[in-house]
Amino acid sequence: MLNPPRDDDVNNGETMSAKNAKLLLDDAEYQFPVVQGTEGELGIDIRALRSTAGAITLDEGYANTGSTRSAITFVDGRRGILRYRGYPIEDLCEKSSFIEVAYLLIFGELPGQEQFAYFDRSVRRHSMIMEDIKQYYDVWPRKGHPMAYLSSIVSALSTYYEDSLDPFDPRQVEISVHRLLAKLPTIAAYAYKKSVGQPKIYPLNRLGYGENILHMMFAVPTEEYEVDKEIARALEQALIVHADHEQNCSTSTVRMVGSSYANIFASIAAGVLALWGPLHGGANQAVIEMLERIHSDGGGLNKWIDRAKDKDDAFRLMGFGHRVYQNYDPRATILKEASHRVLDKLGVHDPLLEIALELEEVALKDSYFVERKLYPNVDFYSGIIYKAMGFPVKMFPVLFAIGRLPGWIAHWKEMFESEETRISRPRQIYNGYPERKYLPLEKR
Ligand code: CMC
Repeated sequence: MLNPPRDDDVNNGETMSAKNAKLLLDDAEYQFPVVQGTEGELGIDIRALRSTAGAITLDEGYANTGSTRSAITFVDGRRGILRYRGYPIEDLCEKSSFIEVAYLLIFGELPGQEQFAYFDRSVRRHSMIMEDIKQYYDVWPRKGHPMAYLSSIVSALSTYYEDSLDPFDPRQVEISVHRLLAKLPTIAAYAYKKSVGQPKIYPLNRLGYGENILHMMFAVPTEEYEVDKEIARALEQALIVHADHEQNCSTSTVRMVGSSYANIFASIAAGVLALWGPLHGGANQAVIEMLERIHSDGGGLNKWIDRAKDKDDAFRLMGFGHRVYQNYDPRATILKEASHRVLDKLGVHDPLLEIALELEEVALKDSYFVERKLYPNVDFYSGIIYKAMGFPVKMFPVLFAIGRLPGWIAHWKEMFESEETRISRPRQIYNGYPERKYLPLEKR
């Protein structure tokens, strides 16, 4: 039972003494304070539930569980709104750069000119990785997934920078943040170069963030490589739309790992691994693989739509649906438009884009998808853009990770700066055997 909010109730997420929720458990009544966010969303603060009522809440997948208060990103899934630190994603994509958005997410405000110059310079200057790290690439399989390279080497960075692992020392955190932002594209590009047997290309610090990614990925020592600035800009826009999405699976993982006071490299490495799965950051790879299957199948789309609807079939429409959005994902709107622009600029005609557009049209008219409010998500068009730029499919989740890094860092930092943070440790309802007697092996 929850008293509805009034407009004047908004109070920066502080506990509202005037509002409470009542719980009836058997004959006893318990009251819990209600917390309201700056955009009006309500949360019942049940921290006293177990100690007062002797019960816990059960919420598989945490779909209705707020794990924290956060001032970083606001998502309104019903209205299709996404804002970083209050700024609409559409504005940031149009006017900002990836490094500026990273600063905004991590430090809470857009940087002034001096702040930007310092941050940008520092991130550019830390782009190299230690030469002996390259040996990892030599011993791992050439076709190994680059997400494994990414997470392993990010974790290994902690062995190179043991003097800057203290999460409570702001200077150590700052240098580690700059190193992570600077080195992730280098680590990623080296994994790609290994996979195609080409020499690794050093970063060029005069280049912008997106430009450098293209340079390290696609330059070869034997030829001049000129970065296409328009394509680099489109890449940065794709990174910006991925930069944060509040308490998603990988970000929650970063926070959870960090809550044990694990260092930032360990926490981010865990985030990369959580992102890898096809239901999260691996979905962009899964979308292209799905579109390729549909293309090579040569048949119509109805067969695939029917399979996606069939509960006995594991096939799902990848790039469709979202835990939070019950509306068109605003990131998909941006990327859909960008995909046309990038393909036009590169003169690429990709039948997969046509299939994607058609699939979207068919699905959005189908009652199954309409009733469940399943719309294209951020992954539906991103892969088409990356593919046109020349990235192989296995690098798509890696690009998601590079984009998401500022968000992971911002949440990790926010968690350490909050006085309310406790180690993440959910409860459970045990439904296994009651106590049993141990039988020695010869009697079983
Ligand atoms: N194709 C077919 N049916 C779907 C799909 C889909 N892509 N997504 C959800 N449904 C159905 C689902 O079967 C369920 O139906 P019913 O109510 O009859 O049982 C209903 O819609 C609700 O789905 P859910 O699985 O309970 O929703 P969820 O919030 O647990 O899962 C999701 C969200 C994103 C994992 C899911 O929509 C999905 O698997 N989508 C495909 C993978 C994908 O594109 N992932 C990228 C997400 S966006 C980027 C990111 O944040 O990582």
